[in-house]
Amino acid sequence: MAQKILVSGASGHLGRLVLDALMARGVDAGDIIATTRDPSRLASYAARGVDVRAADFNDADLTRKAFAGADRMVLISTDALDDKGTRQRQQLAAIDAARAAGVKHIVYTSLPDPEISKVIFAPDHLATEKAIRASGLSHTLFRNTWYQENMFMSLPQVLKSGQWYTSAGNGRIAHVARADCADAIAAALASGTTENATYTLTGDTLRTTDEIAALAGEITGKAIQVVHLTDGQLADGMKAAGVPDFLIPTLVSFDAATRAGHLGALTGDFEKLTGRKPRPFRAFFEENRAALIA
Ligand SMILES: NC(=O)c1ccc[n+]([C@@H]2O[C@H](COP(=O)([O-])OP(=O)(O)OC[C@H]3O[C@@H](n4cnc5c(N)ncnc54)[C@H](OP(=O)(O)O)[C@@H]3O)[C@@H](O)[C@H]2O)c1
Repeated sequence: MAQKILVSGASGHLGRLVLDALMARGVDAGDIIATTRDPSRLASYAARGVDVRAADFNDADLTRKAFAGADRMVLISTDALDDKGTRQRQQLAAIDAARAAGVKHIVYTSLPDPEISKVIFAPDHLATEKAIRASGLSHTLFRNTWYQENMFMSLPQVLKSGQWYTSAGNGRIAHVARADCADAIAAALASGTTENATYTLTGDTLRTTDEIAALAGEITGKAIQVVHLTDGQLADGMKAAGVPDFLIPTLVSFDAATRAGHLGALTGDFEKLTGRKPRPFRAFFEENRAALIA
């Protein structure tokens, strides 16, 4: 009998891409369980035969029931953007539910270098990795570098104003396509592996903020001036621009981590898992040029 593969957080951007990638890899829709806080958002997948179930990591009973019958699963990290351990609590509850439900192999979406990362919520990822290692379940840990798609959050405004404020200094990142992360996750889930492994998924080229700005400027035809600031100046600028207070330390921590080299990995793990090269950042800008300058 085919193994049942569960995707948690399945209605998110990554979750949907994992569902698509599993089916593209030949996994039968009937062997996929998709859990989400809002099953109505996955009606199109239910119509294709995916078993869509309600789960919320804040509700242990509901989550345990939703995980019943799953053999392998990806625990997609939740999106709590604070440093109060919310993500950790949710994810540890999901690991308990997975063990209780008899899941045998768990895949998790972490971030690079969680042991030392200055990213404010890195401790949540590290605690989750440790809990998975201690759970007795076989596991694949994916330490995903920043998505190329994160550019949608800041670049449109940068292109409008012509200025990119940063405290990332000369720190470099090899941004990875979200769909590439999804395909690597699907490859690990569909392979049936029970080997414990940790991969760091990256794009193909490390770039500084100045180099990313130059690439984005070349493709969009817009000039971008990179303005280098300290963390404090960046935080003050965000406050003045109306960024909500709770978000500022998180966003500044991203630049501090970049500057410290904590997001500076470059690996061949994606190719090792999928047999193909990751999507170049240039292709992201070319494919999304119109949306970025809209
Ligand atoms: N590497 C990067 O650059 C990067 C960037 C952004 C985020 N991330 C991380 O990667 C994850 C997936 O990215 P994404 O782009 O798909 O983010 P997204 O679209 O914002 O998705 C948020 C995810 O969190 C899940 N979630 C939130 N609260 C939950 C709860 N109480 N119980 C169970 N699941 C919960 C959502 O599931 P449902 O809504 O289906 O319940 C959904 O899968 C994010 O949640 C975040 O941890 C990484």
